[in-house]
Amino acid sequence: MVLVELATGTIVADPDEVATVLEPTADEAALSAAAGGNAGPIAIAFPSFTDGRGFSLARLLRERHGFKGEIRAVGHLIPDHGQFLLRSGFDTAEITDPDAVQVWKASLERIRHNYQPAVRNPLPLRWDASSKAAGMLDETLGKTGDLVSRIKEVAAQIEGRIAFSTSLGLEDQVILHAIAKSGVIKSGAEIDVFTLDTGRLFPEVLETVELSELRYRIRIRLVAPDAQEVEELVSRDGVYGFRQSVENRKGCCEIRKVRPLNRALEGAQGWITGLRREHSDARAEVPLAAWDADRGLTKVNPVADWSTDTLMAYIAANNIPVNPLHARGFVSIGCAPCTRAIQPGENPRAGRWWWENEDKKECGLHVNENGKEKEKAA
Ligand code: ADX
Ligand code: SF4
Repeated sequence: MVLVELATGTIVADPDEVATVLEPTADEAALSAAAGGNAGPIAIAFPSFTDGRGFSLARLLRERHGFKGEIRAVGHLIPDHGQFLLRSGFDTAEITDPDAVQVWKASLERIRHNYQPAVRNPLPLRWDASSKAAGMLDETLGKTGDLVSRIKEVAAQIEGRIAFSTSLGLEDQVILHAIAKSGVIKSGAEIDVFTLDTGRLFPEVLETVELSELRYRIRIRLVAPDAQEVEELVSRDGVYGFRQSVENRKGCCEIRKVRPLNRALEGAQGWITGLRREHSDARAEVPLAAWDADRGLTKVNPVADWSTDTLMAYIAANNIPVNPLHARGFVSIGCAPCTRAIQPGENPRAGRWWWENEDKKECGLHVNENGKEKEKAA
């Protein structure tokens, strides 16, 4: 058995004995016991190439249980897992096939040029290169007129998985249409279309999911929050606890939206959203593409510069399916209890968390959206 140190590609000849082996089914109690018991290496088992549960366990050990010792990946692993293992908080991986050592080393070397493990150190080693590449994409998209060409450019420039978060809103439907029309998925681009199923969505949103899947022959993945976290939240704050305070509301958004989003974006190289500058003052300077240092990916907002008129004209011209609630005065649509219809002339986001002050109205999915602010912060 050979161990490889993921951050350096070094082979560890005489590894420490593992203190605990966690199976992918390990629950909170098992994680807590493993993290608290001692500082010795914890091994997380991968029973098959396609079983990704181990990645979440490592993250939980680091983020929730504050485990600082060695986390080792054991079982069915391939060199392509290296980057994701690093980003999830693993230190080492067991290589069962001695012939694969060189492939692992080469793969880790490639990763080292681009990334640093997000859990241990969120700053990419090559921050400048990644940030520059995203800046160039932003510039190229600015010069690229139509949306289908923009999507093709994004698929050509970003290697690896590109996650597209859709709320089934107007912007997202337009982007979905352009993705389907561009043919990038058929040409091999890995576009992962998902929606955050908070458990509080309008039934009309789910109808729109089905309608869109039928029209575009693309599966829209429903990403659910952690059931135990939701149970604890509701038992602590009550079923509509988010109405009681901004703090409660943000807590609910954190568990039902932000954490599932983080999970869905793990390992993605790109993230497409439907943010538009006209949405609000806070979004007034949203770039077409920018490097998201916290997540270690390029965030792309391909309709950031579109006006509402352009959006509506594109929908009409292409007969794009939209949420039937739009015809009933709903504009920006989130969870059912937190969204109302608006009157003509009202701010488009006035129907979201309408009982709160304007400046509080973000759910945490898009922190620091303003490109300039972000650059300054970096
Ligand atoms: S929010 O931050 O206020 O909730 P908004 O509804 O304006 O966001 O949507 C902006 C973008 O955030 C969408 O285009 C989409 O990319 C993402 N988004 C918002 N809600 C969801 C959701 N439930 N599932 C997936 N993505 C979402
Ligand atoms: Fe909870 Fe409302 Fe946020 Fe949905 S929008 S996650 S129901 S607070």
